[in-house]
Amino acid sequence: MSETPRASSVLDRVLVLEMVRVTEAAAIAAARLVGRGDEKAADAAAVEAMRAALNELPMDGTVVIGEGERDEAPMLYIGEKVGSAQGTGPRIDIALDPLEGTTITAKAGPNALAVLAIAEQGHLLNAPDTYMDKIAIGPGYEPGLVSLTRSPTQNVTALAKAKGVEVGEIMACVLDRPRHSAIIAELRALGCGIMLIPDGDVAGIIATTDPDTGVDIYLGQGGAPEGVLAAAALRCIGGQMEGRLFFRNDDERARARRWGIEDLDRIYQLEEMASGDCIFAATGVTDGSLLSGVKRLRGGLLKTESIVMRASSGTVRRITGEHYKGMV
Ligand code: FBP
Repeated sequence: MSETPRASSVLDRVLVLEMVRVTEAAAIAAARLVGRGDEKAADAAAVEAMRAALNELPMDGTVVIGEGERDEAPMLYIGEKVGSAQGTGPRIDIALDPLEGTTITAKAGPNALAVLAIAEQGHLLNAPDTYMDKIAIGPGYEPGLVSLTRSPTQNVTALAKAKGVEVGEIMACVLDRPRHSAIIAELRALGCGIMLIPDGDVAGIIATTDPDTGVDIYLGQGGAPEGVLAAAALRCIGGQMEGRLFFRNDDERARARRWGIEDLDRIYQLEEMASGDCIFAATGVTDGSLLSGVKRLRGGLLKTESIVMRASSGTVRRITGEHYKGMV
């Protein structure tokens, strides 16, 4: 009997650039609905396009972070098998968010993305669809410089010292939510800057790795699935991140236990959310700090901008796509 190929050997040759096709397809489908005020329609279009593109890839893929549990999501549900080589191709776990920023898309705001991360089987945290407390900084700092075990004041002060600047020169990125009022008040009292984002914390966390964004640290609570996706990106591009699941009720705690999570208070390090080799890909739906959005030009030409990065090689590629016939 022939052995199933290890995922890593195939990730090299086939899947790295193919992943961009998948995020491009989802972004183009969602882009048709930018500014139309319909989150659900935009998300559904992205999901359908991403699923069709994933099913063309020569792999034995399993969605581990997806659109929800099977009974609540008809497509790209957790556990769904995708790929054209079931049983024969490399076994790959997939974390995806076909449209990260449904409200942003509906309102034509910034930073909506189609996002995908893949890793060898068992290397992505199977996070339930709950919230996660997150903290992240870019690369180049000593390990453990910031932590969820410390206060925002302690973290920002340590970061400012390591960066060699005054605390007031640090810019923190925080989701603009009432639940963050205490963090925001503490940061305001410190005198540092706060970039309040309406949605889209995958882009917010990745922004800490890019000096051009001006963002030094990400703090606050967002979706746990988005946390795993951001962790996969930081594994490739560098940076530090911690995550801790946050449960609003016993239902969510039970959901996490069904996922095999025993220690509900555990703080996950970056490598515990995305371990081994992994690949992260994203295509911009709307313009943002990471990528430009889909542009519709004369004659039906569509332009996309994507990024694909790989942990083991530390390569980051930006890819501009010109789609003369449209893609979907
Ligand atoms: P959607 O694409 O599902 O709308 O998620 C957008 C987002 O802002 C994420 O980036 C973030 O992690 C999460 O929602 C925060 O959740 P909430 O809107 O409930 O505060």
